[in-house]
Amino acid sequence: MKALVLAGGTGSRLRPFSHSMPKQLIPIANKPVLAHCLESLAAVGVHDVGVIVGDRGDEIQASAGDGSAYGLRLTYLRQDRPRGLAHCVRIARPFLGNDDFVMYLGDNMLVGGIGSLAEEFHRTRPAAQVTVTKVTDPREYGVAEVDADGRVTALVEKPLHPRSDLAVIGVYFFTPEIHSAVRRIAPSPRGELEITDAIALLVAEGRPVNAGRFEGYWKDTGRIEDVLDCNRELLSAITTRVDGFVDAASELIGEVVIEPGARVTRSRIVGPVMIAAGSVIDDSRLGPYTTVGRNCQLRGAGVEQSIVLDSVAVTQVRGIYGSVLGRGARVRNAPADGLRRRLVLGDDTEVEIAA
Ligand code: G1P
Repeated sequence: MKALVLAGGTGSRLRPFSHSMPKQLIPIANKPVLAHCLESLAAVGVHDVGVIVGDRGDEIQASAGDGSAYGLRLTYLRQDRPRGLAHCVRIARPFLGNDDFVMYLGDNMLVGGIGSLAEEFHRTRPAAQVTVTKVTDPREYGVAEVDADGRVTALVEKPLHPRSDLAVIGVYFFTPEIHSAVRRIAPSPRGELEITDAIALLVAEGRPVNAGRFEGYWKDTGRIEDVLDCNRELLSAITTRVDGFVDAASELIGEVVIEPGARVTRSRIVGPVMIAAGSVIDDSRLGPYTTVGRNCQLRGAGVEQSIVLDSVAVTQVRGIYGSVLGRGARVRNAPADGLRRRLVLGDDTEVEIAA
């Protein structure tokens, strides 16, 4: 079985981060979303992976490389602009040949992996197998109606009036039958070739399409809140590993990962917390549920329930909560000057300031 990973898309809901990095590279538990996806694919025995990329292909390629770090062989396939998931299958046809494949949306996180879904597909081998999970508001997803045997009886993309609470999530298993279906659909009202429509065509033609239930934690990391939530979920499963330096005046509570070359001095770290290589944490309070990327300088900082990307500096500012600090961001305390505040903010940034 091959895999097709979709890592194009613009990530407009993840602004401002998607201005500076593709959304698939946002770190969750200090590892890009895409890396979690590639690890899941390697774990089910896939070797050959096609990666669909758009404008930000160079950055995706710089991060994932040739895939050997994951035991995979990656082939990059370029899409000129986002034209829909079914369009991705069309352009990947020469790569996919006549193999079965798993299509994985590179911004989806399925914690715990896709082992039982892959096993189910191999065992039953329907024309296609979608993955479904119960959601409270299915209107922003593909929605499946499923009978008692797990067979999909209807499939609709983002229905206004959903007839089930089962959302189709970002892992699909296909036999080569999907190729004729993606050739026969027309663009949807949003102008994209929807994979949902191609699968619905198979259903309408009486071909077997099954739904595999995913019972674990799943997120489409399309929004900052989802990214933070996902980070909390992954952090809640870490176990302590201290490979960096921690001085005697510091206190580590709960599960804390400190990578080699990181330094923690005069600080209180309340896990779960991860601190990546090369970062310096001094006179600070960190955690819980906080990740600090590489080469950060946190001095006199207080950071809780947050994601701090690489090369960030926080100086004498406490009370940072539920925040995401982009690469190279600087947050510092300045002497009071009436009500004046100096802000240098990039496009689409969001700041909350106590009055
Ligand atoms: C896509 C699919 C949709 C699916 C969703 C899962 O939506 O079209 O059927 O439920 O991914 O993340 P999009 O993110 O392109 O709006």
